[in-house]
Amino acid sequence: MSNLETVVTEIVDEMRQRTDRGEVARYIPELARVDPGQFGLAVIGADGTVAAAGDCDVPFSIQSISKVFTLTLALGMVGDRLWQRVGREPSGSPFNSVVQLEYERGIPRNPFINAGAIAVTDLILSRHQPREALGEILRFMQFLAQDTSITIDEAVAASEHRTGFRNVALANYMKSFGVIDNPVEYTLGVYFHHCAISMTCRQLAVAGRFLAHSGRDPSTGLSVVQAERARRINAVMLTCGHYDGSGEFAYRVGLPGKSGVGGGILAVAPGRASIAVWAPGLDAAGNSHLGRIALERLTKRLGWSIF
Ligand code: DON
Repeated sequence: MSNLETVVTEIVDEMRQRTDRGEVARYIPELARVDPGQFGLAVIGADGTVAAAGDCDVPFSIQSISKVFTLTLALGMVGDRLWQRVGREPSGSPFNSVVQLEYERGIPRNPFINAGAIAVTDLILSRHQPREALGEILRFMQFLAQDTSITIDEAVAASEHRTGFRNVALANYMKSFGVIDNPVEYTLGVYFHHCAISMTCRQLAVAGRFLAHSGRDPSTGLSVVQAERARRINAVMLTCGHYDGSGEFAYRVGLPGKSGVGGGILAVAPGRASIAVWAPGLDAAGNSHLGRIALERLTKRLGWSIF
């Protein structure tokens, strides 16, 4: 067994035994049904070596992790013009906060809080019908993960559609400032659906490889984005990827990372590895509780913090 495999196996064994598991997201009823006892971890090294253990092949709702990929796609479509619609500063507020939008004239602080991600989705939608925009996002995920079996969990999307009142408020509020171009219900329909994409840790780690390797997927040699853009996406993940928990994540883990309320985290060790972890129970900021602890263990043992 390689050192990486040993570390991954030991972390998974430890995490499976822990009883402090956090709380599953309840505001999306379908996510409240997920068994909090699950834990998966997948790490893909620069040479393509995979170390994966636990529930690494169980699909889960990627939720806000999808925002990394919609940001990548939207930057590809509209370039740096995107930053006129969305900022790139940490918000210091919860992911679904409304308060800054009024002071800052409807411009969300960054593309990872819900308001920012809804504005990014609106940019992707601008060239398409909702169904086409969603197809584009899903195909992008399938392409990056090299797996055409990846799908959207319609039950999760419908569940959020019924209860996503805050997102409806955020989208309408931004619309009043002219930050949303399309009918709010179209933009939100695409947003709820891309959040409801289901993937495994293994698939997600494959999809994140371009961010760890200067914009290029080392397995195919294909350039997904320029190296400079990959660096910048990683910078926004580091500073904003965990909302008001971003400072704590950088302090403890020391890697760019993006969480989702499904309990997943995608983390990027530049030049070294793409990492996906999943533990459904969340901390108070809505980030995976054991996922963060596992990543802290991993980077400490392997010396992978970027600092
Ligand atoms: O819009 C929402 O509230 C969810 N679809 C996504 C939020 C989320 O994943 C926050 N991340 N930890």
